[in-house]
Amino acid sequence: MKISLINALPSWVLVICLCFQFHTGFSQTDYRKEISKKATELEDKVINWRRDFHQHPELGNQEQRTAGIIARHLRELGLEVEEGVAVTGVVGILKGGMDGPTVALRADMDALPITERTDVPFKSTATATYNGQEVGVSHACGHDAHMAILMGVAEILAGMRENISGTVKFIFQPAEEGMDDLDTWGAKQMVEEGVMDDVEAIFGLHINSQTPVGTLKYRAGPAMAAVDNLEITIKGKQAHGAYPWSSVDPIVTASQIVLGLQTVVSRSVNVTEIPAIVTVGSIHGGVRHNIIPEEVEMIGTIRTYSEEQQVLVHRRIREIAENIAKSAGATAEVNLRKMYPVTFNDYELTEKMLPTLQSIAGEGKLLEHELITGAEDFSFYQKAKPGLFFFLGGMPADGDPDEAPSHHTPDFYLDESGFVLGVEALANLALDYLGMDGE
Ligand code: NI
Repeated sequence: MKISLINALPSWVLVICLCFQFHTGFSQTDYRKEISKKATELEDKVINWRRDFHQHPELGNQEQRTAGIIARHLRELGLEVEEGVAVTGVVGILKGGMDGPTVALRADMDALPITERTDVPFKSTATATYNGQEVGVSHACGHDAHMAILMGVAEILAGMRENISGTVKFIFQPAEEGMDDLDTWGAKQMVEEGVMDDVEAIFGLHINSQTPVGTLKYRAGPAMAAVDNLEITIKGKQAHGAYPWSSVDPIVTASQIVLGLQTVVSRSVNVTEIPAIVTVGSIHGGVRHNIIPEEVEMIGTIRTYSEEQQVLVHRRIREIAENIAKSAGATAEVNLRKMYPVTFNDYELTEKMLPTLQSIAGEGKLLEHELITGAEDFSFYQKAKPGLFFFLGGMPADGDPDEAPSHHTPDFYLDESGFVLGVEALANLALDYLGMDGE
């Protein structure tokens, strides 16, 4: 049927069709194939970059060597490169041959104060001083893989730049894990320095050591929790432990507050909608068996998935702590500090890009993940513009998720054969987004 139709068309129609095809660049099928071919060719290079980063990890805001390697690579590809963004970050700009919007792809660069215990040949033996302590340093969260994957994506897209309608911004961001002494994160600072101003949408991935290679995982809407720090100081009246009637005992009050806080989630949060977490992680007061102290301090963490829920949980924590303290004649000073916002995958953008992830992952390899109670500073970009953050399998195919070492542990291990899928996913997301927008 098709053949007979083409035969029936005058030859000038075919010429126009061919020219049109040429001017709009690759069709989606063309660039899918091209990206897949290039990603396979680049696999060794990506793995070698990762191993080099792995062997030379650097803590947050100290990623000087790492940044230098990234910046050199991006310059060699002919990208416009800005260094020293948000302390040690690198931003590369790839302008396509045709006009269009700007889409951003992000990788994080920092390692952790963890001594590596694996026996890989490129094992890290690096050390650093952290909070006044000598510590081992390693890429125990896989950010080395994120950088190597994004460098591969940059190389592929730079080779196709004439056919790209729009701009791809490569964001290499420091300090995802945050800085103990500062209430800031690489992503937050990147946004404050205007990195997202001209960006229409952003994509990022996290490799996962407990998800089998060849798998992608995503979740629309709230995906990872917002984190807030909880600090409560209870002030009572000090007394001899043998004369408790003359005290206002902050230890008993603190105990009641800890129990009272258990009702925030169980009695105030609508758990059929979305869960929340309130955890007291440390409680400290007193020095001796026969002294009732004046003060008790407790700290903890709060996890929520929406701003309304966060407002409710904060309000209940204050009401419970302050009123229990009041009933005992004590006072409770409640300090709730917002750390990471919720990692929120824009519903519209997720729906739009889902076919891309599906076609790259293949049948049965794109899964929806459960709510994650951990957090990610990618959320700061998503507060600025719509974004999609997804997970890439990094566990050997025959591994057991329950046995595989988790992130932030000394035995953390990645199966590098999963990287190609990450390269393909990010490259295709960028091109599909830009392509679709022009339509
Ligand atoms: Ni991480």
